[in-house]
Amino acid sequence: MKLWAGRIQGEADKRLDDFNSSLPFDCRMYKQDIGGSMAHATMLRECGILTAEECERILAGLSAILRELESGALGFDEEAEDIHTFLEQELTRRIGDAGKRLHTARSRNDQVALDLRLYLRDEAAGIMDQLRTLIGVLCGRAQGSLDVVMPGYTHMQRAQPVTFAHHLMAYAQMFLRDIGRLEDAYKRMNRCPLGCGALATTTYPINRGMTAELLGFDGPCENSMDGVSDRDFCVELCCALSLIMTHLSRFCEEIILWCSWEFRFVELSDAFSTGSSIMPQKKNPDIAELVRGKTGRVNGHLITLLTMLKGTPLAYNKDLQEDKEAIFDAVDTVKTSLEAFTPMVDTMRINRQNMRAAAAKGFINATDCADYLTKKGLPFRDAYQIVGRLVAHCIETEETLETLPLEEYQSFSDKFAEDVYDAISLDACVDGRSVLGGPAAEAVRRQIESVQAALGEDEEEEE
Ligand code: ARG
Repeated sequence: MKLWAGRIQGEADKRLDDFNSSLPFDCRMYKQDIGGSMAHATMLRECGILTAEECERILAGLSAILRELESGALGFDEEAEDIHTFLEQELTRRIGDAGKRLHTARSRNDQVALDLRLYLRDEAAGIMDQLRTLIGVLCGRAQGSLDVVMPGYTHMQRAQPVTFAHHLMAYAQMFLRDIGRLEDAYKRMNRCPLGCGALATTTYPINRGMTAELLGFDGPCENSMDGVSDRDFCVELCCALSLIMTHLSRFCEEIILWCSWEFRFVELSDAFSTGSSIMPQKKNPDIAELVRGKTGRVNGHLITLLTMLKGTPLAYNKDLQEDKEAIFDAVDTVKTSLEAFTPMVDTMRINRQNMRAAAAKGFINATDCADYLTKKGLPFRDAYQIVGRLVAHCIETEETLETLPLEEYQSFSDKFAEDVYDAISLDACVDGRSVLGGPAAEAVRRQIESVQAALGEDEEEEE
C-alpha cells in the first residue's frame, strides 16, 4: 500500500512507480536513515510524544533491521518508493503500531535532507583521509628526489630548471587546498534539518537541538523552509570534488607525457600499467587516462546540481531527488580515482638521467646567463638581449650555452669570463633559487616540512 493511500485511491501505474522510485540509488543511505530515526524516536520520547515502551520497540526494531541488512539476511523490497518508505514499512511490519508512530513530527522532506547530510559528511571525511594519504606519498617521494633536476616548462617549452621534488610539491599544495575546501563545505553541511518537517516544522513540542546533538551536528538548520530545500552542501561538495579531479587530471596529463617514449621521465610499475591487445611493445598509463577522462563526469555532475536548483521554488520539490545520483557518482568517482592514483604515484620509477638530460638542452639556463651579466653590472634588459642573440647563435651553430667556447661568449659581451660556466651549470641554476617557494633542495625541504606540519594540525583538529 502507498504511504499516501487515502487522498489518492486509485492504483498507481507501474510506469509512475518506476519513474518515481529512488530506492535503487538511495538504499545506500540505509544506515543514516536508521540512525536518524533512532535519534528522532529518542527525542520524541524525551519530549513526551512517544512512550518509553514505544521508543524501545522502535529502537529494537530498527537495530534488528540494521543488523539484518548488514548481514544480508534482509534485502530491499523493490516495490518500496524509497529507502525511507522501505524502512518505515519494514519496521511497522515487525512492531505494528509503534512503527507507525515514528513518523510523528517528521516528513520525508526533512528526513531525506538529513540522511544526505549524514551520508555526505562521512564521505567527505573519507576523501579528506585519502587526500592526506596522497599528500603523504608526495612528501615521501619529494624527499627522495630533492636533487633530481628536471626541466620546468611554460607553454610546454623548457623554461627554467626545477627538481622533481619541487614539481611534486606543487601538487601537494593543490591537494592541501582541496582538503581545506572539503573542511569548509563540511562546516556548512553540518547543520541538522530534522524537525523542519515538510517545510514548516510541526506543532509538536519537539527539541531540535537534541536531535542535532545526538547526530553530531553543530546545530539545527535555522529556517525550516531552507532546511528542507537547501542542497547547497551538495553543490559545494561537488565543486570541491571537481577541483580534486581537476588537480588529479592535470597531474595525470603530465604523467602520461612523462611516460611517453619522447620524455621517458618516469615509468609506471607493471602493477599499475596495462598492455595492448595487438602491439606487443606497449605499456599504457590507463589509470592516468581514466582519471583524466572521469574528470569530465564529475564536472558534469556539478552542472547537474546547479541546474537542478536554479529554477526550483521553495520548499521541497521532487526535482531535488535528482541530487543523489549526481553527488553519489561524483563521490564514488573521486574515491575510486584516488584509490588507484595514489599507489600508482607511489610506485612509479623516475628516470633521473633522462630528466637531467632534458634540462641540459634547450637553453633552460638562459635566464641565469642573463642574470650573470646583470650581476656583472649590465642592466637586465641589455643582458636579456645579449643572451637572446647568444642563444640564436648557438641554435645556428648547434652549440649549447654549456659548450660554447669562451671566446665566442666574449664576442657578444666582454663581461663574460671563465666563471660563466659555473654560473649557468644546472646545479647552480637550481641551488641558486633558494628563496621561499623555490626549487633549491633546502627550499623544497622547507615546503615538505610545512606541508607535513599542516597535515599534522589538520589531524589534531579532527581528534
Ligand atoms: N525520495 C525523495 C528524495 O529523494 C524523498 C523525499 C520525498 N518527499 C516527498 N514529499 N515526495 O528526494
